[in-house]
Amino acid sequence: MASNHVIITLQDVRREYNLGVECIHALDGVTLELSDNEYVAIMGHSGSGKSTLMNVLGCLDRATSGSYILDGEDTTKMSDAALARVRNERIGFVFQSFELLGQLSACRNVEMPLIYANSGWLSRRKLATEALERVGLKGRMRHKPNQLSGGEKQRVAIARALICKPSILLADEPTGNLDTKTSREIMDLFRQLHNEGQTIIMVTHEADIACHADRIIRMQDGKVISDLPTAEDPASQHLKATHTKEAQA
Ligand SMILES: Nc1ncnc2c1ncn2[C@@H]1O[C@H](COP(=O)(O)OP(=O)(O)O)[C@@H](O)[C@H]1O
Ligand SMILES: [Mg+2]
Repeated sequence: MASNHVIITLQDVRREYNLGVECIHALDGVTLELSDNEYVAIMGHSGSGKSTLMNVLGCLDRATSGSYILDGEDTTKMSDAALARVRNERIGFVFQSFELLGQLSACRNVEMPLIYANSGWLSRRKLATEALERVGLKGRMRHKPNQLSGGEKQRVAIARALICKPSILLADEPTGNLDTKTSREIMDLFRQLHNEGQTIIMVTHEADIACHADRIIRMQDGKVISDLPTAEDPASQHLKATHTKEAQA
């Protein structure tokens, strides 16, 4: 399935916050390449720049300097309107806190991005139904968020993120508010989506979650300090050791 076609190139990307008395280097020269259909986890301590990186990748924020090429287009040179279009059409976001609209049904929540894209009612309903089926929520179309479990809410958010068929799915701590069992179910869903061809970039600080990805990028002080296939990252070594110990006990 993996085609090895590069879809993201970051070259010496910096994001600085000038607070007058000091300048914070939230991203301090990040250079990265990501290919179509990769499944990547970004790890790092709080304040290391993970969310800033996700915001830049998702075109919610601009780099102070450096270049970001997405699908062959230099986003650093785009107008705000063009950037907003890229964000709506090519990026799907999933957040720790789900960010669903409480007064709307699951189906209406999933349709939201299509309303912004001006698509007609019938095609919206059809696509939302398909997206909810894809994440295993066929029977929950009319439920409101407060009638859904945490895992179901996150599935609705994932369906919403996928409805415009984005080039990349960005997930910032997608299991941060979920218990272990539900987290594993969401990771099974991510694996399924990845197998279907979806490119996924996920931020997490949990090693056992990061190990579901194929590649682990570690950040510290706004820099990439390690970028390895999961099997070579200390997170998976540590997990292997824990599992061996459990098996021996
Ligand atoms: N709007 C902002 N203004 C000033 N500093 C910020 C802002 N957003 C983030 N930062 C700083 O940038 C650094 C990276 O933040 P962030 O990307 O949120 O880290 P992480 O997601 O890894 O916890 C931190 O030192 C944070 O305090
Ligand atoms: Mg963060």
